[in-house]
Amino acid sequence: MINRETIDKIMETARIEEVVGDFVHLKKRGTSLIGNCPFHGEKTPSFHVSVNKGIYKCFGCGKGGDSVRFVMDHEKYSYPEALKFLANKYNIEVEETVESVQDVEAQNARESLYIVSAFAANFFEDQLWNSSEGKAIGLSYFKERGFREDIIKKFNLGYSPDVWDALTLDAVKNKHAEEYLEKTGLAIRNDKGKLYDRFRGRVMFPIHNFTGRVIGFGGRTLKTDKNVPKYVNSPESDIYHKSNVLYGLFHAKKAIRDLDNCYLVEGYADVLSVHQANIENVVASSGTSLTIEQIRLIGRFTQNVTILYDGDAAGIKASLRGLDMILEEGLNVKVVSFPQGDDPDSYMHKVGAGAFKTYVEENRKDFILYKANILLADAGNDPLKRAGIIRDIVESIAKIPDNIKASVFIRECSSLLQIEERVLLSELNTMRAAKLKKASTPSRSQPSHHPDMPPDNLFDDQASPAGETLVTESKVANDDLQEQEIVRLLLAFGHELVSWDKIDNMYIGSFIMQNLTDVTFENKLCKKIIDHYRIEIENGQLPTANQFIKSQDRDIADLAITLSTSPYSLSENWYNKHNIYVRDETVNLKATILGGLYHLKKRKVDRILLDLLQEIKTETDATNQDILLQRYSFIKNVEREINKFLGSVIVK
Ligand code: UTP
Ligand code: MN
Repeated sequence: MINRETIDKIMETARIEEVVGDFVHLKKRGTSLIGNCPFHGEKTPSFHVSVNKGIYKCFGCGKGGDSVRFVMDHEKYSYPEALKFLANKYNIEVEETVESVQDVEAQNARESLYIVSAFAANFFEDQLWNSSEGKAIGLSYFKERGFREDIIKKFNLGYSPDVWDALTLDAVKNKHAEEYLEKTGLAIRNDKGKLYDRFRGRVMFPIHNFTGRVIGFGGRTLKTDKNVPKYVNSPESDIYHKSNVLYGLFHAKKAIRDLDNCYLVEGYADVLSVHQANIENVVASSGTSLTIEQIRLIGRFTQNVTILYDGDAAGIKASLRGLDMILEEGLNVKVVSFPQGDDPDSYMHKVGAGAFKTYVEENRKDFILYKANILLADAGNDPLKRAGIIRDIVESIAKIPDNIKASVFIRECSSLLQIEERVLLSELNTMRAAKLKKASTPSRSQPSHHPDMPPDNLFDDQASPAGETLVTESKVANDDLQEQEIVRLLLAFGHELVSWDKIDNMYIGSFIMQNLTDVTFENKLCKKIIDHYRIEIENGQLPTANQFIKSQDRDIADLAITLSTSPYSLSENWYNKHNIYVRDETVNLKATILGGLYHLKKRKVDRILLDLLQEIKTETDATNQDILLQRYSFIKNVEREINKFLGSVIVK
């Protein structure tokens, strides 16, 4: 177990914007930071980070929490794993008390895969630099290809000896379990049950995850034999998911963010050569065709991708469709293609770093125009083919979420394709409409009260002249919203000192609690929070929002986070509804607090009235009915008082 002091220190040090910022491209908006949620696919940002509160919250999918929760959810870490990750990030020494056997085992499973991978990387590196075979074959190969020593070291390149079990033997000798060698794919078991190395006689490219840990390898053969695969790669494992990994990202991420652009190449060698030329914002998809996860990974650091293509026409055409995916994610895509037969690596060696940069600058084309040009050249004068191209291009444009950007492309393509803008636009709209229809299922967790929508029918009574309409069943389905609003007010304003009318210098928290003595909360979570709040106050403590936000009880923490970050509140709706447009509810704090309290009370009273009405209907005894009616009219009066009060607050 990690001890309390260490946990506190980590909590104090790990700034939410830095922790999240490693994974999400954040922009400032107002007092919070926003970005595209890493937990669900989205093109318009609904992921908010509050620096003051130290928490994040996505209004799209509902996920929220503090730094530790973020790391847990994002990296699929356990609580202690997440703490250790943060401790490592901030160089905090972790003090642990003795762990249980299960703890150790659970954590060690994944950890062991990392450890054996790191061991292997070291082994290969050591072979490259220190063994005679490694130096003579591996190192000299890299040097022949023009890689400098600092780059070879920076990327931890290595060499696997050309024997059956060099790594396996050394790993086992160093007490690494065979199980983990197998699970990482570093070793393979043959029919006779004997382990042998996957990588033999190859130069080794370790693959790092973006925090810098080795998770897999690519090994290139040095033979020209066509029957030997050029690259052998680690298989998928618990720590290596190919579709989520970009080669070189660990070394590129800072430059990508600083330069706000990411170069995307195909191979390991391309990354090394480009990086070596001081263009450090470069990553590779490493052989697999680009996945949506890889695109989102880039999207955490920048919205701008420049693809550096090998100069072979067939390959380019094949990949065009895949690139629409990048557009769909809202990223800006540019393309540079190299002369026939060259990839970025070979071109770099041919012309040198200076000319390479110039070439990239001068040949950078916007993806859509690039695509249009390629397809046009392909179609020649065939009118049918040309018509097909138009559809194809407009389809790509339709994927761009940003309308303004899309219309710019429509204009440019109109002149390129020599087709009236109007025609392209109508084609675009048809496609968009079809897409909308397909995607029109409502999203899961839209806030139930969007400010543009009427809140609910609660206040219709006031609109009706006599205010005597009977409450109907549907109006009092449940009191969740009103109860949550009270909790929200407690969390947001509990610590404000106020003096109103007869009360003098009182905390809003105490004030609210005093006014709730006759109210029973029905929503279980709200009740838990309110009960806890009451007990604390009775013990002379005023609870803070943080106490609930950081609660061990995940449901409580979730609700507290949702409520303390929610931009949609009852009172805002309430203001909207009555055309008092007060953006900032703190301007009239009294109205906000009293409004919240009285809305809840009105809700409770309505419920009592409804119950009474039921009773009256079913009561057959005349005297009993009379008593019930009297009670009904008494409570109806209370309701009227509340309405009157609400009315007076509203007009203030
Ligand atoms: P390339 O064949 O273009 O290789 O494959 P390369 O990167 O230019 O390698 P060099 O310059 O010949 O050394 C591009 C990428 O596709 C993956 C590798 O990640 C490679 O870097 N690949 C290629 C494989 O995984 N397996 C293969 O057999 C070939
Ligand atoms: Mn190459």
